[in-house]
Amino acid sequence: MAERIPLVIDTDPGIDDALAILLALASPEVDLRLITAVHGNVELAQTTENALRVLHLAGRSDVPVAAGAAGPLVHPLPERAGHVHGAAGLGGVELPASPAGLDPRPAVVALAELLMEQDPGTVTVAPIGPLTNIALLLHVFPEAAARIGRVVWMGGSATRGGNVTAAAEFNAWADPEAAAAVLGSGLPVTMVGLDVTLPTVLTEAGIARFREGGGEVGRTAAEVLRQYVDAARDRYGIDGVVVHDALALTEAIVPGTLGVVRREVVVGTTLGAARGQTLVDRRAVAAGGVDVAETVDSAAAVEFLVSRLESYGS
Ligand code: RIB
Ligand code: CA
Repeated sequence: MAERIPLVIDTDPGIDDALAILLALASPEVDLRLITAVHGNVELAQTTENALRVLHLAGRSDVPVAAGAAGPLVHPLPERAGHVHGAAGLGGVELPASPAGLDPRPAVVALAELLMEQDPGTVTVAPIGPLTNIALLLHVFPEAAARIGRVVWMGGSATRGGNVTAAAEFNAWADPEAAAAVLGSGLPVTMVGLDVTLPTVLTEAGIARFREGGGEVGRTAAEVLRQYVDAARDRYGIDGVVVHDALALTEAIVPGTLGVVRREVVVGTTLGAARGQTLVDRRAVAAGGVDVAETVDSAAAVEFLVSRLESYGS
């Protein structure tokens, strides 16, 4: 087997974040070395606790969790997403507390130290929440940020409008100034936005497979998803759920899963209706830009997720 990819997940668990973390832990292609928690779906204290508990559920309390930013760089969020993910962020499911404590280092310090230890260009960082921690890394430890191999971000939307406002996807909207800083930094970013996540629906049949075949982890993951499934049916009338973050992790685990095109992306940072919009410039990009995911084999991506979650039962 090829060398395992050293992986950091920056996350705001979050129901689909939890699935993404479990997917990474079930994937031999990657070596999850650190989780950095960030504000987002719910408050930082809760996202941090949820990250610890998801790792404990999978028997991986050895993975360090460091707490990052409690809020956006500039303007506070008008609201969080407890109505989607549950007040405590995991669909109303109370996971057993982890015996592990938090890594005492702030997230940007833990991330910078890991990057300085690893060979340049080898570490994949997968932010699946607002980009506040990554923007802070760029400002506080630029020499460490420059050593990142690739950033695979779940966020933004090129052609599918928004999911938190008419214009904006949640992770971009939650900290547009951070998103602008990261997408404009020259870092090798792959943007996994609503264009590829919305068509990729995990159906009830897929959930049943890992609920029945994935052991305790599979059963618990299905339980955590329940609220998400009900919300998707009530709000969008679909049979299943869009596990946005799991698709971004699939791209991090198997580079090239998604079809991408290099584009310049401008983020709306005004306080008006367009705040958090990711304007993808479809004209030819001169230099820089980011790889915007435009195509996906949704059936294959769902099968990848389901089969990896089923593997917890073997
Ligand atoms: O828009 C989807 C994103 O917002 C996902 O990361 C989900 O967890 C929420 O944070
Ligand atoms: Ca998330």
